[in-house]
This record gives sequence, structure tokens and C-alpha cells, in this order.
Amino acid sequence: MDDLKFNKVAAGFLLAALLAMAGYKISEMLVPHQELAENAYPIEVQVASTSTDAPAAKQGPEPILALLASADVDAGIKVGKKCTACHVFDKGGQNKVGPALWNIVNADKGAVDGFGYSTALAEMDGNWDYQALNGFLYKPKAYLAGTKMNFAGLKKPQDRANMIAYLRSLADSPAALPSDADIAAEASQLAQ
Ligand code: HEC
Repeated sequence: MDDLKFNKVAAGFLLAALLAMAGYKISEMLVPHQELAENAYPIEVQVASTSTDAPAAKQGPEPILALLASADVDAGIKVGKKCTACHVFDKGGQNKVGPALWNIVNADKGAVDGFGYSTALAEMDGNWDYQALNGFLYKPKAYLAGTKMNFAGLKKPQDRANMIAYLRSLADSPAALPSDADIAAEASQLAQ
């Protein structure tokens, strides 16, 4: 490479470097560097509720009884697809990862023959009435600490109503629908 060519190439590099620096300065002038007032990607941290006197019902699922009368069993069958990895709905169906769910509405909790329940569910009193199912299906682990049903829950009240209506249909004689008095009682209980 002769001297002249070398100088040209060197000058080219220099110019490029100068332009890059100038560009950087100009862009800094145009768009001044700012500290973000807030985190651009908010990180959600769950703050445990510190108040102990808040009624538990307020944090739980929405009331369900009023929705049941108009719930849609066909829509419930669709919601039920989320359950079939673990549950069978047919009459005489076998237990899988979860217990068979034929005739579960109003059945004793944790009482399907031959299923190995968690201690938490096995020791739970009561029946799977509509409100119990509403609470459990909303968020199983919150309703029953220690349950081995690994399912996030059905957050939409209409999905739970449709699902429960489908469960209700899975019986030789389906449970009675809630009466107006039941609906009113549930509403006033949750309003307290
Ligand atoms: C990942 C598997 C899985 C999925 C998905 C799942 N379940 Fe379960 N389910 C279980 C297991 C396991 C149990 C037993 C829980 C225990 O013993 O604590 C259970 C228990 C239950 C019970 C209580 C039954 C009894 O005999 O007391 C009901 C009701 C129920 N599931 C309904 C549903 C419905 C409805 C869905 C879908 C919306 C669903 N589950 C989705 C695994 C699952």
C-alpha cells in the first residue's frame, strides 16, 4: 500500500469515528437520557393481606347460585375439557389422576371409592354442594390447602356456573336447583 492510499484509508476511519461520536452527541441532545419514573416492566409482588378482620367471603369467589338457573350445560361440557386430563365424567368411569366425577354434586367430600385422596381432602367435612364447588373450583389450593388437585381454577363466574351445571347433570337424579330463598341467603351472606 502506498502512502497516499494509507492516508486515505486512515482518514476514512477517522472520519467514521468522528461521525459516530457526533451522531451519539446529537442523539443525546435530542433525546436526553432520563431515569424512568417507574419500572418499565412492573414486577407484580403479592402483598399478603395484613388485616385479619376482613371477612373471608369478600376475597373469595363471586356468588354462584343466581347464575346456576340460567347456566349452560353445553358450555359446561367445553369448560370440562380442562378437567379430563385428570377426571372421568361418565357413569361408572374409573378414577384417574383425580377421582371419577359422576354424581359428585351433594356427594360427601373425599368419598369416591378406591381413590387415594390427600389427607386434607380426606379429612374435610361436608358435601360438595353448589357453594362448596364454587369455592373449590375458583381456586382449589386456596379453598383447601394441601389438596393434590393441581389446577389453577376457573376465574370466570360464568365458567364455574356452566361447569357446575354440567356436573349437576351427571347424575341419575340431578340435585334440585337453588330456590329464590337460597339465592337471597347467599347474596346477604356475601354482603356482610
Ligand atoms: C391436574 C389434574 C386435575 C385437573 C386438571 C382437575 N382436577 Fe379435580 N382433582 C384432582 C385430584 C388429584 C383430586 C383429588 C384432590 C385431593 O385428594 O386433594 C381432585 C378432586 C376434585 C374434586 C373433589 C372430588 C371428591 O371426591 O371430593 C372435584 C369436585 C374436582 N376435582 C373437580 C374438578 C373439575 C370440575 C375440574 C375441571 C374444571 C378439575 N377437577 C380439574 C385432579 C385434577
